[in-house]
Amino acid sequence: MGIGIRVSRIKAEEVRKLLKLMGVLDEKFKVAKVNDKVIFPITRELKAEEVDEVLKIESNACIVGFEFEPKLRKPRSLIEALSGKLEPWMLAILPRSFSIVGDIAIIEIPDQLYSYRSIIGEGIMAVNSSVKAVYMKTGGTEGIYRIRPIEHIAGERRTETIHVEYGCRMKVDISKVYFNPSLSYEHVRVASKVVDGETVIDMFTGVGSFALHIALRTKARVYAIDINPEAIKYLNENLKLNKLKGEIIPIYGDAREIINSKLQNTANRIIMNLPHNAIEFIDVAIKALRDMKGIIHYYTYVASHEGITLERDKLLMELRRNDVEAEILEARRVLEVAPYELITVFDVKICRK
Ligand SMILES: C[S@@+](CC[C@H](N)C(=O)[O-])C[C@H]1O[C@@H](n2cnc3c(N)ncnc32)[C@H](O)[C@@H]1O
Repeated sequence: MGIGIRVSRIKAEEVRKLLKLMGVLDEKFKVAKVNDKVIFPITRELKAEEVDEVLKIESNACIVGFEFEPKLRKPRSLIEALSGKLEPWMLAILPRSFSIVGDIAIIEIPDQLYSYRSIIGEGIMAVNSSVKAVYMKTGGTEGIYRIRPIEHIAGERRTETIHVEYGCRMKVDISKVYFNPSLSYEHVRVASKVVDGETVIDMFTGVGSFALHIALRTKARVYAIDINPEAIKYLNENLKLNKLKGEIIPIYGDAREIINSKLQNTANRIIMNLPHNAIEFIDVAIKALRDMKGIIHYYTYVASHEGITLERDKLLMELRRNDVEAEILEARRVLEVAPYELITVFDVKICRK
């Protein structure tokens, strides 16, 4: 049994502040509420002068014995949240990290732990109080829309959320559109290169991550194309969620057809974030450049460190085939997507031969 001070609810907040100031409030236990009274747990008997201070606030305050409930401490890591619930060998193979998009967490769970997926999901929510739903990956990004299959494992059954990236608000549905929170720095890096007055084509825009960051910072015009109608639907919503300096023109359709039909000879900068086959669109990207000159941000998968040279040569060869001179301004590892598999970006300056 512990000791506490019982006071009326009306005076409770004032007394709580005083006890805290005196350093006697026992934070390891929960404050108890009994009928119209509040009982604060204290760490020791009060001295006479301390009692007088309390009585000045609440003349009916009295010291009581009470069985206080201990406070549950939030676990600091997923391992800590799950220790005691999973066996040590299971904890050893548990992934150390997971992605968070808005208030939804997405984790990759090893096959051996599949039957423990709900416990793992609950553990993630216990560690991160802002996470309201947890999904597990059930495959890699696939199909033309580059969506990753997922399965619900804990919390709310909701796949739509608002993700905030360096102040940019993006509504996404993780089951309907591509979205990767690990690209945040890359979105900002590219946006920081754009200056007022530029015309940019974001050929594979998704929910508009690059386009939104650009238009947040600069008075540029961005044509933002995607073949997934859901991506364009969310981009249209995202235009309303952000106060933009620049202009974004969302366009639903195939980047090749859109550029060929209405965006030839238009832009001074092109973003090509379609790492598995951007190479197939180099010819139209060149056609989209005004006077065949400007900058292309070209993303590709690279199998290893040596693979960067291979991919760079492939890109330069394709550019030469399209009658332009090219200078690689920067080659940057963006993200490791699997062991020995990287997304790499080449920033390339193009000019007519
Ligand atoms: C890897 S995601 C990039 C999304 C976005 N740029 C980002 O950083 O989050 C590629 C996007 O390209 C779109 N896409 C694929 N093929 C396309 C095409 N031929 N024309 C236009 N968009 C295409 C997909 O729907 C997907 O949203």
